Amino acid sequence: MHKLKESPLFVTFEGIDGCGKTTQAMMTYHLLSSRGYKVKLLREPGSTAVSEKIREILLDRKLSMTDITELLLYEAARAEIVGREIAPLLKKGYVVLCDRFYDSTTAYQAYGRRLDVKMVKATNKIAVGRLVPTLTFLFDIDLKTAAARAGMHKDRLELQSKTFFNRVRLGFLEIARKERRRIKVVDASRPIETIFADVKRILARKIDLK
Ligand code: TMP
Repeated sequence: MHKLKESPLFVTFEGIDGCGKTTQAMMTYHLLSSRGYKVKLLREPGSTAVSEKIREILLDRKLSMTDITELLLYEAARAEIVGREIAPLLKKGYVVLCDRFYDSTTAYQAYGRRLDVKMVKATNKIAVGRLVPTLTFLFDIDLKTAAARAGMHKDRLELQSKTFFNRVRLGFLEIARKERRRIKVVDASRPIETIFADVKRILARKIDLK
């Protein structure tokens, strides 16, 4: 069998619910696979047995919990995915694509829930250690377009108010402003293929796509 290309690269996909990041992550996965790379697509919270169970709790609209409980559950799910999937895969030379990562916690739990930003960043560190994504796409979109894209059946987080999502969106943009080299903001209100052309162009600076 043809040997797959190795390129340890960690790419994350971020944005508010309905921004289209999952579609873009899947398109990126197919692109890189077709170019012969060892590539894995993961999602947060989730992608390990324990993290998927934690995801069920986090998204269950019948449950309510304190903001700190919510924060710590996201971090617990993250510690699992980093320790059991992301770090070992990068060591084996995989391109790892992750649908959400710690910027989501900073945006949703710090800016959205209004928990202390420093505390949230410190808990992110406990979960991931020194791991930092090589590249992060932030799919920015206005709330109206995002709400129209998100499905009818809303999970616990998606039930939050418009003002909550506005804080999350502005939070993401603030995070991106502080880390311009890592985080690339993409206008996600455009057609899927137009957005993906941007993704490809930005990705091509990090990995050979020919
Ligand atoms: P998903 O719908 O993109 O799979 O994400 C699940 C929900 O969890 C979404 O509403 C965003 C939220 N979330 C947080 O609030 N904090 C986090 O750290 C992560 C990873 C997701």
